[in-house]
Amino acid sequence: MATNWTPESWRRYEARQLPDYPDPQALAAAEAELGHYPPLVFAGEARALTADLAQVAAGKAFLLQGGDCAESFAEFHPNNIRDTFRVLLQMAVILTYSSKLPIVKVGRMAGQFAKPRSAPTETIDGVELPSYRGDNVNDIAFTPEGRAPDPQRMVKSYSQSAATLNLLRAFSHGGYANLQQVHRWTLDFMGRSPWASHYQQIADRIGDALAFMAACGISPETVPQLQGTSFYTSHEALLLQYEQALTRQDSLTGDWYDTSAHMLWIGDRTRFEGSAHVEYLRGVGNPIGLKCGPSLEPDALLRMLDTLDPARTPGRITLITRYGHDKIEAHLPKLVRAVKREGRPVVWSCDPMHGNVIKASNGYKTRPFDRILDEVRGFFAVHRAEGTHGGGIHAEMTGQNVTECTGGAIAVTEQGLADRYHTHCDPRLNAGQSIELAFLLAEMLNQELKEREKVAA
Ligand code: PEP
Ligand code: CO
Repeated sequence: MATNWTPESWRRYEARQLPDYPDPQALAAAEAELGHYPPLVFAGEARALTADLAQVAAGKAFLLQGGDCAESFAEFHPNNIRDTFRVLLQMAVILTYSSKLPIVKVGRMAGQFAKPRSAPTETIDGVELPSYRGDNVNDIAFTPEGRAPDPQRMVKSYSQSAATLNLLRAFSHGGYANLQQVHRWTLDFMGRSPWASHYQQIADRIGDALAFMAACGISPETVPQLQGTSFYTSHEALLLQYEQALTRQDSLTGDWYDTSAHMLWIGDRTRFEGSAHVEYLRGVGNPIGLKCGPSLEPDALLRMLDTLDPARTPGRITLITRYGHDKIEAHLPKLVRAVKREGRPVVWSCDPMHGNVIKASNGYKTRPFDRILDEVRGFFAVHRAEGTHGGGIHAEMTGQNVTECTGGAIAVTEQGLADRYHTHCDPRLNAGQSIELAFLLAEMLNQELKEREKVAA
C-alpha cells in the first residue's frame, strides 16, 4: 500500500482544474451522499484489467480505449450507449483478426463527465463567465446560473454512470456481443462505405475464418465465450472530490480502489510534479493512464513512474501519448528509450486526437481525419524503430453519425461540420470514421505481426 497516503491526502497538494464551489456546505453534503453509495466497479475487476494490460505491456495483447470526449446529461440515451459499444466491438473484431492478439476493450464511458479547460473563463460578446467543465461540474449553457458549479451534479453523474454501466454489462454478457452478429454489422457498414473495396479483403477473411470455425463446430451456440466479451470503463480522474467520495477499501486485500471506473487517467494538464491528481492516483490500486504531451521530458516521466508505480507492476501504467501528427516522431523516441532503459513494464497507447485539434474557417473546432491517421502511423513507426510494442489506441469517438472531424470515406467537409456537431467538448470520430480507423490500424498491426514473425524466424 502507498505510504503516507489517504483518500484525502491530495488536498494538501496543488490541485489545478478543480471548480470553485460557491457553497462549501452543499459540496460537503454531496460528497457525504456519494460516500455511502455502492461502488460502481469491484476491486477484483480493476485487478483483472491490470492483468489484461500486463499482457498488452508484454506485447501479447492490444488495447482499444474509446468513447466520448465528454459524456453529457443531454445525450444520455440507451441508443447512444448501444451504438458506441457496437462500434467498439466492430473495431475490436477487425483488430483481433489482423493483429492475432486479444483486444482489451475499455470505454471512455460511464463516468467521463469532467473536463480540463485551457482557460478558467470564457468571454462571449463582452460577457465573462466560468468555462464549462463537464456536466459533473456545471452546465454548457452560457448563463451565470448554468456556469455556476453545482455539487449535486456529481450525484446525477453517479446515477447516469450506474445506469450506463448496467447496460454495458448487460450488452457484454447478454448475447448482444455475439461474434457473428458483430461481423454482420461490419458487413452492413461495408455495403455503405465508399472505401469498401479497400477493406473487402480483410472483411472477407474474417468472414471466412468465422465460417471455418462454424464448420468445425465452434460457434456462439457451442462456445459461450463467443457470445460475450469483457468490457471495462474509464475516465479522466479530474474531479477529485467525486473520485475521493467513491474511493473504497477492498474487503479482500485491504487496498484502496477508486470504484468510479476500472481505469482512471491523469490528463496532460494535471500531471505535473507536486500535483494533487498524481497524489490521489498513486494510492489507488486501479490501472492508471498518464497522458504524455510535448512538455513531458523523460526525467520527469521516470520520476512520475517512481511515484505512481514504485513496485513496477506490469499493467499498472498506460502511457497515452498525444503529440500531434507533426510532433510525434520528434518527441516519442526519447520517452520510449528512457522507459525501455529503466525496464519499466508500461503499455504504450496512442491518442491521435488531442494533439490534432484545429479551428475550421467557420470557427468549429475540428480534427482532420488524415492528421489522426498520420499520428497513428508515426506512433507505430517509432515503436518499430525502437523495438517496442505500440500497444494501444485511445480515441474520442461515438456510434452516432455526427459531423465533428473532417475527412473520412464519406468526406465530412468544413462546411458540413454544422450539420450534426453535437459534442460537448472535443470533436469525435463518427461511426464510419471509427471503423475506417480500425481497418487502417489493422493494416499497421498486420505489418507489425509480419515483422515479429520475421524476427522470430
Ligand atoms: C481528454 O482525453 O479528453 C483530454 C482532455 O486529454 P489531454 O489531457 O491529453 O489533453
Ligand atoms: Co477530449
